[in-house]
Amino acid sequence: MGAAVDIGPVTLEAIANDATRRYDLRAVFGNDRPIELELGIGKGRFLIQNATDRQDVNFVGVEWASRYYRLVAERAAKRGLPNVRLIRDDAAHVVRDTIADDTIAVLHVYFPDPWPKSRHLKRRLIQPPFARQAARVLHDGGLVKLGTDHPDYAQQMEEVFLADADFEPVFRAVGPEAPVGVTNWETKFRAQGRTIHKFEFRRKPRR
Ligand SMILES: C[S@@+](CC[C@H](N)C(=O)[O-])C[C@H]1O[C@@H](n2cnc3c(N)ncnc32)[C@H](O)[C@@H]1O
Repeated sequence: MGAAVDIGPVTLEAIANDATRRYDLRAVFGNDRPIELELGIGKGRFLIQNATDRQDVNFVGVEWASRYYRLVAERAAKRGLPNVRLIRDDAAHVVRDTIADDTIAVLHVYFPDPWPKSRHLKRRLIQPPFARQAARVLHDGGLVKLGTDHPDYAQQMEEVFLADADFEPVFRAVGPEAPVGVTNWETKFRAQGRTIHKFEFRRKPRR
C-alpha cells in the first residue's frame, strides 16, 4: 500500500485492507441512500461531478494508483462531499473481497486498462469471474455501466456479460451513438477521434 493520505473520512483504506470481511457500505455512510461504485476512477471527474450533482446518492471510488487516489481524495475533501468515499486498492480484489452481497445500485467501469499484449490479457478486469462478483454485489435491477475505446476489449466486455445468466443487456452504443461522458480518458480518446463503445447490463431479479 502507498503512504496513508490524511484526508480524514473520505478514504476507506482500512476497509480495503481487510480481506477477511465484507462490508455493508451503508454503515459507512450512515444512511440508506443508493450506493454507486466506480472502479478505476483516474482523476475522478465522473465521481466528483456525479457526487456533486446527485447528493442523494453515495459514491465509492476505487483506484490503484496513489497519485490519482490522492488527487481525487483531496478534491473530494476540499469540496466537503459527504457522499464520497475512496479505496486505494485493486478493483477486482475490492469487489470480490470487501463488498457485501446485494449492496450496490450501479457499478461504473470507464476505460479500464485494455492490456493489449496477449500475454497480459488475463489482467483485464472484465472477465467471467468479475461478472459473477458484479451479480453478487448488485441489487436486483442494478446496473453495470461500461465504456471503452478498445474494440477487442469492447467485444470481451459484451461477451462476458451476455454470457452471464444473471445479466440482461439494456443499452449498447458505438461511435457517434455513444452518449458523451465526462471522464478524462473519454475526453482524450474523443479528441483523438477514437470510436467509443458503451454498454449497460442489468442484474436480473434474484429468485
Ligand atoms: C485508462 S484509465 C481510466 C480512468 C478513468 N476511468 C477515465 O475514464 O478517465 C484506467 C484507470 O484505472 C486504474 N487502474 C488500473 N488497474 C487498476 C486496478 N487493478 N485496480 C484499480 N484501479 C486500476 C488506473 O490507475 C487508471 O487510473
